[in-house]
Amino acid sequence: MTRRAVAIGVGHYLPERVVPNAEFEKTLDTTDEWIKSRSGIERRHFAAPGQTTSDLAARAARAALEMAGLTGNDVDAIILATSTADLTFPSSATMVQHAIGNTKGYAFDIQAVCAGFAFALSNANALIVSGQANRVLAIGAETFSRILDWTDRGTCVLFGDGAGAVLLEGQEGNGTTEDRGILATDLNSDGAYRDLLYVDGGVSKQTTGMLRMEGQEVFRHAVEKLAETAHAVLGKVGLTADDVDWVVPHQANIRIIKSTARKLGVGMDRVIVTVQDHGNTSAASIPLALSVGVQNGQIKKGDLLVTEAIGGGLAWGAVVIRW
Ligand code: UT7
Repeated sequence: MTRRAVAIGVGHYLPERVVPNAEFEKTLDTTDEWIKSRSGIERRHFAAPGQTTSDLAARAARAALEMAGLTGNDVDAIILATSTADLTFPSSATMVQHAIGNTKGYAFDIQAVCAGFAFALSNANALIVSGQANRVLAIGAETFSRILDWTDRGTCVLFGDGAGAVLLEGQEGNGTTEDRGILATDLNSDGAYRDLLYVDGGVSKQTTGMLRMEGQEVFRHAVEKLAETAHAVLGKVGLTADDVDWVVPHQANIRIIKSTARKLGVGMDRVIVTVQDHGNTSAASIPLALSVGVQNGQIKKGDLLVTEAIGGGLAWGAVVIRW
């Protein structure tokens, strides 16, 4: 028997305020047409004043718990992937823990920017497989609107706010790729590329800072590294892209999503796409896409999924899950 981390609930939350591309035309030298054609983004959600990352995360977590018919104290660990924590400390995960009424588990944040949810899934899997936890909430939540430079048309039109959560539970499998649950993970980072995508402030610099990105360079690395990590993770369990029912990519740019799918040899009819409605929500983008894909009936129990993401660091990775 092989212990597997199986998804038993998924949920998401998007802030009420929807901002269409046209709104940026009022303040920037940009157009709806440019944003749509270069990125695939049509609209994004922005958090209300005072609404924090842990608020969004807690709502997504409750939705995932509700799907599983469980409550906060049925969870052993909460891992929140975010680069936009409410406070420097304590972790936003502990705020989620309190908000969902969990008094007996443990909670912590992890930070791998847009690749954060792949890192969260991988860590949740490690806790479950090693027996350190039986049920783990893996959450991705961001309020990137707080770190955008509203005068930089090359970045501020691309990002949005939101949260998604997946509840994983330890279950016994047969050790084959027919088992439900996380089958393989592949994580990577290379700090040599730290200047391509970063926030120019932080605690030890005593500022909050704003997001800075060399868009074209990140694009180039994304196209190359996402296909590589997806091939690598499938190869670890002897699978190929032909076995995959759904690719659930990080939602940064439709051109990156299409190009990665092409490199994998997967048709766009097997790719979950939400970038048009959410923009790039960093660590929240994959769990948001998973939740939307399940909600609209695309992703079904037993489907083989591969997720892949890249972001600041650079950090990138992929996960194979049988849903
Ligand atoms: O989640 C982390 C990973 N992040 C990503 O994956 C993002 C990766 N990068 C991208 O998605 C794309 O590089 C962008 C969407 C950021 C930019 O698309 P691009 O096709 O690479 O455009 P570009 O940066 O080469 O810019 C082309 C032109 C430039 O003008 P010139 O120099 O040709 O005159 C830009 O100044 O478009 C201009 N431009 C804009 N024009 C209208 C840049 N932003 C805008 C804008 N509206 N918002």
